[in-house]
Amino acid sequence: MSTPAYTLITGASSGLGKEFAIQCARKGMNIILIALPGGNLSSIAHNLELEYQVSVKVFEFDLSDSEILKQQLHIITEQYAINFLINNAGVGGTSSITHTSLKRIDDIIMLNVRSTVLLTHLLIPHLLKHPQSYIMNIASMAAFTPIAYKTVYPASKAFISSFFLGLKEELTGTGVSVSVVYPGPIMTNSHTSRRIISQGRKGKMGLLPTPEIARIALKGTLAKHPVIIPGLMNKVNHLLMQLLPLSLKMRIVSREVKKEIPFALSV
Ligand SMILES: NC(=O)c1ccc[n+]([C@@H]2O[C@H](COP(=O)([O-])OP(=O)(O)OC[C@H]3O[C@@H](n4cnc5c(N)ncnc54)[C@H](OP(=O)(O)O)[C@@H]3O)[C@@H](O)[C@H]2O)c1
Repeated sequence: MSTPAYTLITGASSGLGKEFAIQCARKGMNIILIALPGGNLSSIAHNLELEYQVSVKVFEFDLSDSEILKQQLHIITEQYAINFLINNAGVGGTSSITHTSLKRIDDIIMLNVRSTVLLTHLLIPHLLKHPQSYIMNIASMAAFTPIAYKTVYPASKAFISSFFLGLKEELTGTGVSVSVVYPGPIMTNSHTSRRIISQGRKGKMGLLPTPEIARIALKGTLAKHPVIIPGLMNKVNHLLMQLLPLSLKMRIVSREVKKEIPFALSV
């Protein structure tokens, strides 16, 4: 009998990552969930196992600690075969650069950029063992425009977009398919919801429910689409924004984002 394959999901304790866990389990996929220690991952795993009769494994550690990530990945790949990687964990923030701590900047770069590249690099030899496997990466519509008062976050998502589309090209002809997802705003938790509401009507443009974004992302990835922009509004927005000069585009988006600052978490 062949070894059962697993889908590894980062940032699976809440928001979009938790929704990926639910929808993958519903499809009968075995899953490995990763988030920080001390959260609700075990109870999510227990419920999914009971409801969908799939195998769910939990690993709680800080992805942005490269040494721990390498150790944990070694333990995971010794025990489980992985044929689907969902790079979902990511953090952001809204504040002027002078009010942003170096720690916050490091947190964004280490999680969104370094850990995502490291995890992918460590997993590619394992993904290549399968006739077909998938890497899904959660970027953001923010990847398309440099944005004042966010600066590091859109830059980190632009990195993800460029890195994984390059990787997709490199892995063409292998069994590994690579997709990048560019969600617009998602009300994944109360803080994000307040932030989105603070932008008024424009902030809610392209807003989709979390389950709908997860559904579109999974469907597109399994269909091997390299670029996935969920929702008609976001697709139209992206096309229209491409017609604008960069300076005007940056001014429009940054003006809206500035309204979020009073609602931002500590930076
Ligand atoms: N929300 C939006 O409007 C929006 C829009 C576009 C793109 N995105 C992207 O979508 C993805 C998911 O966003 P979300 O809003 O669903 O996020 P979220 O609700 O804040 O969840 C983040 C997840 O990442 C985990 N995590 C955070 N830091 C970690 C670390 N150092 N090590 C391990 N796990 C860590 C969290 O675990 P704990 O619960 O243990 O902290 C949690 O499971 C992110 O990449 C984000 O950039 C979000």
